[in-house]
Amino acid sequence: TWKLTDFAEETIAEIRQRVGSNRVICGLSGGVDSSVTAALLSRAVGDQTACILVDNGLMRRGEIESVIEEFSKHFKTDLHVVRAEDRFLAALAGVTDPQEKRKIIGRIFIDCFAEEAAKIPRARFLAQGTLYPDVIESGGLRDGPAATIKLHHNVGGLPQDLQFELIEPLRNLFKDEVRQLGLQLGLPEEIVWRHPFPGPGLAVRCLGAVTKERLEILRQADAIVVEEIKKAGWYRKTAQAFAVLLPVQTVGVMGDARTYEEVIAVRAVDTEDFMTADWSRLPYDLLGRIATRIINEVPGINRVVYDISSKPPATIEWE
Ligand code: XMP
Repeated sequence: TWKLTDFAEETIAEIRQRVGSNRVICGLSGGVDSSVTAALLSRAVGDQTACILVDNGLMRRGEIESVIEEFSKHFKTDLHVVRAEDRFLAALAGVTDPQEKRKIIGRIFIDCFAEEAAKIPRARFLAQGTLYPDVIESGGLRDGPAATIKLHHNVGGLPQDLQFELIEPLRNLFKDEVRQLGLQLGLPEEIVWRHPFPGPGLAVRCLGAVTKERLEILRQADAIVVEEIKKAGWYRKTAQAFAVLLPVQTVGVMGDARTYEEVIAVRAVDTEDFMTADWSRLPYDLLGRIATRIINEVPGINRVVYDISSKPPATIEWE
């Protein structure tokens, strides 16, 4: 039978042989798939690996810093952080259409990634954390050859003219297998159990205009949601939990004064495959604590609602 320990050793040996003395570029997102890919590369070819992390200004609170910190603790590879917040926010200014947001973010991501990759000499390979479900989607078979080259959606799709050979060490694995592998490779639980986060980041959870100010409001609310859910022991019982900032103002009252501020929606779902999902039955007390803290601590928010829609027909994300 198939064992992960053997799998890890064989994969590391295969990568080592294939890469030889060349260099490999690996896109990092902070998620479990790209972290496990980086960990395998680090074990296989050490500092021949160059990782690129694009800071798009759309990550959750403290996320970039924690990736950098964890990364320097666990891997002996070369980390390139591209600070591109201003570039992303300038391109997103005034854009409210969800698909338009995704297109812009994808395009700028590719530009940033390609520019940084061009600075890395002798890079012949590109590693990405494509999982088996991504392979099925593009028509491949488990243990079979790649049917098409599908770049991982978190990496966004790179132009063909970059001409890298692809390394996809996770292409036969499901998410739970990747998590087990991550634990075996000694990655911290914080990374291994991190909820998935969409490539376009907080931009698709900041409904309406994406501005630095609105992102900051959303980031604060999101941090409260995650913190309270973790504190209550519910983080691993949900597949994804987050805050969404709505472009709607509602009336409230504070002391003697009337307020007219924005709304935060809390979303938490249970799912195995993310194709269908049910809303998480979070305890009322936990929801109450989340709402009270957001309204008290986050300026500009006077109302919190909980999303009780299942997928389908709703999606997990609001955009
Ligand atoms: P939906 O909203 O379609 O989400 O029910 C299903 C899963 O996919 C994630 N998601 C994305 N991931 N780029 C990504 O990398 C995207 O544009 C994107 N849109 C949704 C979502 O967070 C959920 O896990």
